Amino acid sequence: MAELFSLREAVESDRPYLDAYCWNEGMDNLPSLERVTVAANGDGEPVGFIRIALGGDGMAHVNPVVVHASWRGYGVGRALVEAAAAEYGELRLVARGASVPFYRALGFEDCAWDLVDTSVTENCDGCELVPECNPRPMRGGACVR
Ligand SMILES: CC(C)(COP(=O)(O)OP(=O)(O)OC[C@H]1O[C@@H](n2cnc3c(N)ncnc32)[C@H](O)[C@@H]1OP(=O)(O)O)[C@@H](O)C(=O)NCCC(=O)NCCS
Repeated sequence: MAELFSLREAVESDRPYLDAYCWNEGMDNLPSLERVTVAANGDGEPVGFIRIALGGDGMAHVNPVVVHASWRGYGVGRALVEAAAAEYGELRLVARGASVPFYRALGFEDCAWDLVDTSVTENCDGCELVPECNPRPMRGGACVR
């Protein structure tokens, strides 16, 4: 059976999709398409994406990974994170509480807040949704299967 989706670097024409996916999740638009990989369907349209942000120490951070709701549960998120792990090694991030089981399934573990770059943790600073969202600092990727 042909693959349902394939991974490729993001291009400018992906922007409307990526902006919409961010908006759906209450996230800011991506600052650039640097280190953004999309999962594209058979028509070449993005069904999900991952953006890697490098911390001040060069450590790779997932910020964010999003899969369109109609494509969740088909391995798109796993493929995006595994590809990033293959390229960057260890990955760190702040997981929304609802996405913690996803990261656990990929072998990620909890870590200290100060291991995550401030450019990533600052998204939570002062956010009124923190009690509801229950964000968690996590690390993994170096040994995801
Ligand atoms: C989190 C998200 C990216 C997962 O994408 P996805 O394509 O549905 O994930 P996958 O299908 O690749 O699932 C990978 C594994 O995680 C598990 N998983 C995913 N979501 C899960 C959940 N809510 N609860 C339990 N397990 C979950 C799957 O069962 C699967 O396990 P397996 O590979 O061992 O069978 C997607 O739900 C999403 O875009 N959520 C909204 C945005 C978000 O919260 N992003 C993370 C912010 S850091």
